[in-house]
Amino acid sequence: MRTGKFRRTLARDPLPRASGLDVSGRVVAVGERVSGFSVGDAVFGMTNHFSGGVHVEVARFQQGEIQHAPENVSLEAASAVPLAAQTALQALRDCCAVTKGQRVLINGASGGVGHFAVQIARAMGLETHAVCGPSNVDFVKSLGADAVYDYTNTPAVEVRSRFDAVFDVFGKFTGSMFSDQLERGGVYVSTVPKIPTLGGELVARLGVKTSSRLVQVQSNSQDLLQIKTWIEQGLLQPHVQRSFPVEDAAQAHRQIESKRTVGKVCIALGAA
Ligand SMILES: NC(=O)c1ccc[n+]([C@@H]2O[C@H](COP(=O)([O-])OP(=O)(O)OC[C@H]3O[C@@H](n4cnc5c(N)ncnc54)[C@H](OP(=O)(O)O)[C@@H]3O)[C@@H](O)[C@H]2O)c1
Repeated sequence: MRTGKFRRTLARDPLPRASGLDVSGRVVAVGERVSGFSVGDAVFGMTNHFSGGVHVEVARFQQGEIQHAPENVSLEAASAVPLAAQTALQALRDCCAVTKGQRVLINGASGGVGHFAVQIARAMGLETHAVCGPSNVDFVKSLGADAVYDYTNTPAVEVRSRFDAVFDVFGKFTGSMFSDQLERGGVYVSTVPKIPTLGGELVARLGVKTSSRLVQVQSNSQDLLQIKTWIEQGLLQPHVQRSFPVEDAAQAHRQIESKRTVGKVCIALGAA
């Protein structure tokens, strides 16, 4: 979005504007109709406003977009969770619609969404195969993947196995490229809106065929509660590659734009 993507469609808020979709922090004020939160509570969450705008000292959220922060990780680590972990959960549970014992292939397993997807797949009891770059194979193994492939040797489309779902986090491929690897009724899920993935999602929403889906993350407090619970049970661990002071926010954005981030980066706006 910083480079102008979606400026004519979903992100038309005028520039200059604040960026950022997810945060952690402490409650400084509570609306009249809000229940369950008090001033001083540690919270984490994601705005459903497509353009974002919550990387500011005081951000406003709907009650349904936030949750109490997990108690066993730092607030900084909690800030890395809402967008990426909810995307991974909603892709696996709702779009892949896989259940315990089924087999999933995750492409782009070392990044923000991917490193949560591997851990959530494991928490869901899935057999998890994962694809990442050569320097991150050990990291992805440490997240609990059953098999890890380095895409310089074995790109996702060349993994010789059968899957109930492919979650293409990096979004490089299309569903038809996995036709030999997907079981009958299997689903390809992408994170990236492109003509084939948008078309597949439209067809799925019309109830015609659900073989290609596009995840569209929506923040909700129930999913954040599930994720918080997994974190507190030790099943999910956010990995923060680096935290940048707010003065270096542009550097944080450039790091993400490199498409080489391991886990997530954070921007620190001050002590919470
Ligand atoms: N639709 C939605 O609701 C939604 C929500 C969230 C994010 N997204 C989108 O999902 C995508 C992933 O987000 P993210 O936060 O996970 O990104 P990210 O953290 O920036 O992803 C970086 C990862 O991409 C991997 N990568 C680079 N080249 C690759 C390749 N050729 N094949 C496989 N993996 C490769 C890198 O792995 P190595 O370093 O190991 O090479 C790196 O770990 C982005 O396009 C983002 O915009 C969509």
